[in-house]
Amino acid sequence: MSAPESTNLDRRLVDRFGRVHNNLRISVTDRCNIRCFYCMPADNVQFMPRHELLSFEEIERVVRIGTTLGIDRVRLTGGEPLVRRELHRLVARLANVSGIVDIGLTTNAVLLGEQAQQLRDAGVKRLNISLDALDPEIFKRVTRRDSYDKVIEGIAAARAAGFSPIKINAVSVKGLTEDQIIPFAELARETDTEVRFIEFMPLDADSQWERDKVLLADEIMAMLQAEFGSLEPVPSANPNAPANDFQFADGRGKIGMIASVSQPFCSTCNRFRLTAEGKLRNCLFSHEEVDVRDLLRNGSPDEEVADAMVSSIAAKNAGHQINSAEFVQPDRPMYSIGG
Ligand code: 5AD
Ligand code: SF4
Repeated sequence: MSAPESTNLDRRLVDRFGRVHNNLRISVTDRCNIRCFYCMPADNVQFMPRHELLSFEEIERVVRIGTTLGIDRVRLTGGEPLVRRELHRLVARLANVSGIVDIGLTTNAVLLGEQAQQLRDAGVKRLNISLDALDPEIFKRVTRRDSYDKVIEGIAAARAAGFSPIKINAVSVKGLTEDQIIPFAELARETDTEVRFIEFMPLDADSQWERDKVLLADEIMAMLQAEFGSLEPVPSANPNAPANDFQFADGRGKIGMIASVSQPFCSTCNRFRLTAEGKLRNCLFSHEEVDVRDLLRNGSPDEEVADAMVSSIAAKNAGHQINSAEFVQPDRPMYSIGG
C-alpha cells in the first residue's frame, strides 16, 4: 500500500466548512441476517434487486478514483456486509488499490466464525462488531433473531484470526439496555475488548425513535462511575474519531462514548458514503444523493466520477439537525444507507 499514482492536490474532497474527507464508508448490500429494531423493519423488508448493487469491479473503480481525491481509508458496511458473497475478494481488491492505507469492516459477527480468517488474510485491518447486549434474551429483543451463540462464536474466531483489540459497538436504548452497561464494562476490563456505547439515532425503519428512548452518554458515564469510580478521558490519536474514550482509574480497560445525539461530532466529520446501489451520500442524515452507478455503467470517464464525488461533498451541510425542531428523518433507514 503506497501513495496513489496521480493525486490532483487542488481537487480534494473539502466541503464548504473546510472539512477534508478521506474516509469512504462503502455499503456492499442492504441485506441482513438479523433484524435490529433501530435499523430495520421486523418483516416484509424490500431489498434492492441484485443487479442494482455495484459489482466489486465497480466499487474498486470508485475507490481508485477516490484515492486521487484524497480518500485513503475505507470501511465496508451493510446491511450486513458478510452476507455479500465472496466479500474477501472485494477486500483483496481494495487492499491492492494504491493509496488505500486502511480497510475496516463493521459486522454483526453472525457469519464471522466462517469468514474471520479469510477476511484478515485479504487485508481487513480493523473490525467493529455490533453487539448491543451480552444477555441472550435482550439480544433477541433487539435483533428479533436467535443468533446470539453464532455472534459469540464469531467473536472468538475474530480473536483467533488475530484481530486485536476486538471492538464492540453497542447501541444503547432506554428501557432496554441499561443493565448491559456494567457487564460490557466488565468485558472491556477483563478481556482485550474495547466497547463503545452509541446513542440511538433516528435512523430506524419504523420511525419509532423518540428522544426519551436515547440512553445518553452522560447517563452511561454516571452508571459506570457509580460502579467503578472515576473514569479518565484518553486523548484520541485520531481527531476525526467519533468516540470519546475513557480509561478506568486502575488502568484496566477502555470504554468509548459515541454521543451522536447529545454531543454531535459533525464539525470534525471526515466521512463520505457510497450506498450498495451506487449513490454517494455526504452524511448519514442527508436528503440528497449523487448517483455514480449510471456513470460507471455508461462508459463515463474517471473524471466525471470524480466530479460527482466533488459535487456531493460540496453540498454537505454543517451537521445533522437531530436536536432542532426542524429535523426530518431521512427516507432511508440505516440498513439501506450503511452505518
Ligand atoms: N442508532 C445508532 N446506531 C445505529 N446503528 C444502526 N442503526 C443505528 C441507530 N438507529 C449502528 C449499528 C452498527 C453501526 C453500523 O451503526 O449497530 O454498530
Ligand atoms: Fe458526519 Fe453527518 Fe454523521 Fe454528522 S451526522 S458525523 S455530518 S455523517
